[in-house]
Amino acid sequence: MRQLPLYTLLPYPPGAHAQTLARDWLAQQLQYPADQLPLYRDARGRPRLAEPLADIDINWSHSVEKLLVVHGKNIQLGCDLEYIRPRPNALKLARRFFHPQEADWLANLSPSEQEAAFLHLWCAKEAILKAHGHGLSFGLEKLCLSPGSNGLYLKACHPDLGKAGDWQLSGFSPAPGYWAALAWREID
Ligand SMILES: CC(C)(COP(=O)(O)OP(=O)(O)OC[C@H]1O[C@@H](n2cnc3c(N)ncnc32)[C@H](O)[C@@H]1OP(=O)(O)O)[C@@H](O)C(=O)NCCC(=O)NCCS
Repeated sequence: MRQLPLYTLLPYPPGAHAQTLARDWLAQQLQYPADQLPLYRDARGRPRLAEPLADIDINWSHSVEKLLVVHGKNIQLGCDLEYIRPRPNALKLARRFFHPQEADWLANLSPSEQEAAFLHLWCAKEAILKAHGHGLSFGLEKLCLSPGSNGLYLKACHPDLGKAGDWQLSGFSPAPGYWAALAWREID
C-alpha cells in the first residue's frame, strides 16, 4: 500500500542534532523503538531506512530554528525547508543555476513576485534532488519547473530523474517565515 508523505515541523534549537530529533519522531510515527530504528546514511549521505522498514522513505531539512521531517511508504521522497529572507540577487542566481525557461519566467515577474517565485523554485528543485539522492551537485538546471494551476509542476527533467509527470510537488508555509517543499513519486 502506498502512503502519501506525512510531515512534521519540529523546533531546532542551536546545537541540536537533526538526526536525533528526526529519529525520535520517525520512531514514534512508525511505532518502533527509537534505538532500534534501522536508520542509515547511503554513500551520498542520504538518510534511509533498512529492512524491515525499507519500503518507507524518509528525509529531513533544517533551516534556522526549524526542522522538517517527512516519511512515506512506497514512494521516493525528498523535502526542503528554507527561512524566508530577502533575495535581491534572485534573478542573477536563477540565470546562473536554474533552467533557462525558469529564469525567463522569473524575469517577467515584479521584483517581489520574483523573490517569492525564486524561493518556491529553489525549494521544489532541492526537494526533488534530495528525493533522487544525488544532492545539488546533480545540477539544478537539469530539471525545469513551471507554474501550473495547483502551484509548480515538473515540466521536464534529465532522464535519470525518471518521467517528469511522475513527480508530485507540494509547496507550503509550515510556519510564519518559512517555506517548504515536498517532492515524491510512486515506486513499484
Ligand atoms: C543534500 C543537500 C541537498 C542538503 O542541502 P542543505 O540545504 O544544506 O540542507 P537541508 O537542511 O535541506 O538538508 C540536510 C539534510 O539532507 C539530508 N541529506 C544529506 N545528503 C543527502 C542526499 N545526498 N540526498 C538527500 N538527502 C540528503 C540529510 O538528512 C541532511 O541532514 P543532516 O544535517 O542531519 O545531515 C546538499 O548538502 C547536497 O547537495 N549535498 C551533496 C551530497 C553529495 O553529493 N555527497 C557526496 C558525498 S560522497
